[in-house]
Amino acid sequence: MNIRPRRNRRGSAIRDMVQENRLNVSNLVFPLFIEDGQNIKVEIPSLPGIFRFSLDLLLKEIESCYKLGLRNFILFPKIKEELKDLIGSYGLDENNYYYKAASKIKQNFPDIVLMSDVALDPYSSMGHDGIVRNGLIVNDETVETLAAMSVIQAQAGFDYLGPSDMMDGRIEHMRIAMDDAGHQNTGIISYTAKYASAFYGPFRDALDSSPVDLKDVPKDKKTYQMNPANRREALLEAELDLAEGADILMVKPALNYLDIISDLKQNFTVPIAAYHVSGECAMLIAACQNGWLDYEQAMPETLLSIHRAGADIILTYFAKDYAKLVLGHSL
Ligand code: PBG
Repeated sequence: MNIRPRRNRRGSAIRDMVQENRLNVSNLVFPLFIEDGQNIKVEIPSLPGIFRFSLDLLLKEIESCYKLGLRNFILFPKIKEELKDLIGSYGLDENNYYYKAASKIKQNFPDIVLMSDVALDPYSSMGHDGIVRNGLIVNDETVETLAAMSVIQAQAGFDYLGPSDMMDGRIEHMRIAMDDAGHQNTGIISYTAKYASAFYGPFRDALDSSPVDLKDVPKDKKTYQMNPANRREALLEAELDLAEGADILMVKPALNYLDIISDLKQNFTVPIAAYHVSGECAMLIAACQNGWLDYEQAMPETLLSIHRAGADIILTYFAKDYAKLVLGHSL
């Protein structure tokens, strides 16, 4: 035998030296849930260890992440039921507490990266990402609303806007609207290939944003989010988003879609992000709580696999724990 791959696995220094991929905390984005009010810290039942905070406590949470070297965040709002309507009006209200919170966060932590959510579902009484008319999620009217929302979000100070809605043409409309308003430097991290997945459950619990169960309203998001069976279609979505002005392309979910992450990485030159979604994290947490898997081993292996597939950036609820692990803190 003259070829023995095990020679390069002999000792830990050797393994380190020949290691192909490394995941840094700077590649991670931590999703944060916010709710209007004060002194609120509520654990998400289906996502143990992850909380919904009011702004006062959220600032403390961000500070503790910052001290661990974790500086990238994406913020999602829970909206009171009485503020929701058919067209998501509160999303266009400049006094929306979510936008004020973003400004305050950036004021307190100017050098973090703060990402937004651009979609109507937090504000929609139907729980859909777009405007619902006669049982249809209408595209072009929704895109106009999202473009208007983008200007307000850019004004609030978000560094990147994250359109998670999957309407056609929204990147172009957002880009034009932001540029016209003087926000050329605000970026767009586009949910390019977002699949109609069964793994968003805990997130919808956290924000109370599931589609309503009403006759004549679709109970799923299959007319706008992608079919999990499709691979080439992700390339079409990516070509469109890039041509329309996206700065970063995202695949969502991550683990069941590693092939899509790899395809986008091979075919496009912009940074590729992956959203390791709530249900994917919840599965691992549940297995670890049962003693069936070891969290400190399984969690970093999971994140590394998403990175190895091609994700430059990973949005994950494990970001803070990973940062602690890297620093040698106990979890
Ligand atoms: C909604 C949105 C969803 C997530 C991010 N933005 C849910 C959905 O599309 O229904 C899911 C994230 C997660 O599950 O962690 N625009």
